[in-house]
Amino acid sequence: MAEVQLRRHLALVGLMGSGKTTVGRKLAARLGRPFIDADEALAVTTGRTVRQWFDDSGEAAFRAKEVDVLAQLLASDDPSVIATGGGIVCTEAGRALLNGPDVTVVWLRASPAFVANRVAQKANKDHRPLLDADPRVVLDRHAAERNHLYAEVADLVVDVDPVHRDVDKPKKKLAEMVFEAFSQIDAEKAARDRAQLARAAADAPATAPGGSQP
Ligand code: S3P
Repeated sequence: MAEVQLRRHLALVGLMGSGKTTVGRKLAARLGRPFIDADEALAVTTGRTVRQWFDDSGEAAFRAKEVDVLAQLLASDDPSVIATGGGIVCTEAGRALLNGPDVTVVWLRASPAFVANRVAQKANKDHRPLLDADPRVVLDRHAAERNHLYAEVADLVVDVDPVHRDVDKPKKKLAEMVFEAFSQIDAEKAARDRAQLARAAADAPATAPGGSQP
């Protein structure tokens, strides 16, 4: 049987500040794949920052556009590592993409207290308009509204807080943990796909190459 062509992207999901971009970059280097930050891709392809989308068109328009951008990224044949925006799970269309066959999803699960502390030390101006309000309040709400949605799309969950507490280079460690688990999941998914293809080939009616003979 011909080798199955896999398009197995890896997408990181999680709250703002959970480390999707930094961990994703390290992970991509480890896997020898391109890294794509979905918010950056959105800004480049539309010529408008995330803040401009929120200010000029509103959150709903931004959410629709971020789904479009993710769909384009997942359609690429070149397997990549994608850091998604924290709210990608808020739309049914976003979750459907993440539940689709072309991507393995890793949830970097972090507590709102931990991420609120981290985002407070960062410049959030162009990228995180929702953090103009009190970050702790926003992130508590996001955790309450979204954690079950992250869980719904995730193939793998990695807890971020303990790694930051216990390890010297937490981002490097997190990338390594995801790398190990992803390799395992990917091999299992590939085996399942191959088995499914083999079953489909066995069930298909035999046809002579080039169609029926005269
Ligand atoms: C958002 C997260 C941001 C960005 C936008 C909205 C959210 O991405 O997409 O500001 O609703 O959680 P990061 O998670 O990369 O910060």
